[in-house]
Amino acid sequence: MNDVRDAFSEKFDKKNISEILRTYKAKGLPEREALILIAFVLGKSREYVLSHQELECPDGAIELLEKRLTGYPLQYIVGNVEFYGRQFTVEEGILIPRWETEGLVELAIECIKRFNVKTVAEIGIGSGIISVTLAIETGAYVLGTDINPKALEISYANAKRHNVEHLVSFKLGSYLEPFEERFDDIDMIISNPPYVREGIEVQRELLYEPKEALFAGEDGLNFYREFFNRYNIKGKIVVMEIGDDQCAFLQKLTDGKCIKDLAGKDRYLVIIDYKR
Ligand SMILES: C[S@@+](CC[C@H](N)C(=O)[O-])C[C@H]1O[C@@H](n2cnc3c(N)ncnc32)[C@H](O)[C@@H]1O
Repeated sequence: MNDVRDAFSEKFDKKNISEILRTYKAKGLPEREALILIAFVLGKSREYVLSHQELECPDGAIELLEKRLTGYPLQYIVGNVEFYGRQFTVEEGILIPRWETEGLVELAIECIKRFNVKTVAEIGIGSGIISVTLAIETGAYVLGTDINPKALEISYANAKRHNVEHLVSFKLGSYLEPFEERFDDIDMIISNPPYVREGIEVQRELLYEPKEALFAGEDGLNFYREFFNRYNIKGKIVVMEIGDDQCAFLQKLTDGKCIKDLAGKDRYLVIIDYKR
């Protein structure tokens, strides 16, 4: 009987935050992440948790810490991600924005301002971070598409969250099919498409993300091949994120120029053939 009671109390004895942080650090979870999760459950800031470590760890936090230990992405647990200095909603089923994509947005903003672009089209909006950021930063009108219905729902939620729903129109469909009749009005096409090679070993976090957002055939180039085959981009600006080993292929296929990301890797393709 005593053994049962001991085992029970060991499992359910409340621990304070400081002890929990230590336990999960030893299990391999970075303290920063544990703090975020505990703060999320408490509805307080990370700073608050850091300075109140003597408090009992809240109910529900352990479950989330364990879930994170399995590799389930932190951003899906808290339903939020920071992009270009702003907070965006994200959910399982939608790609988690990557830091490299801030560079893509930076390039696009530069082009929009320099060439006085009025209408942008984004293929593959995901959580809407690109379209919404461009609308906020430049006031340009953004048409966006995605083949995933959930992407439209989350992107509209993010447009509302940042008060730019009047500057965006998102539609379900492949490439620019939903906006075919407006193709001539589009000044700039932007995309962070799927570009990972099918069959390569990926880090375990990626296993929780939607496959159609990541993979693009055996060489990861299917999206680009199809796009440049479908559309005559004469007179337009095209800005796309690319895999770090895809520049040579894309420079042969287009008149584009590759630009490196902050890690010094080829990451963006820019084609400027703008006449307006
Ligand atoms: C790499 S994710 C990018 C999401 C978001 N723009 C970002 O940067 O975080 C690619 C997105 O493209 C969408 N997608 C894939 N193929 C597509 C296609 N042919 N037409 C439209 N969207 C597509 C996927 O559903 C996914 O949301």
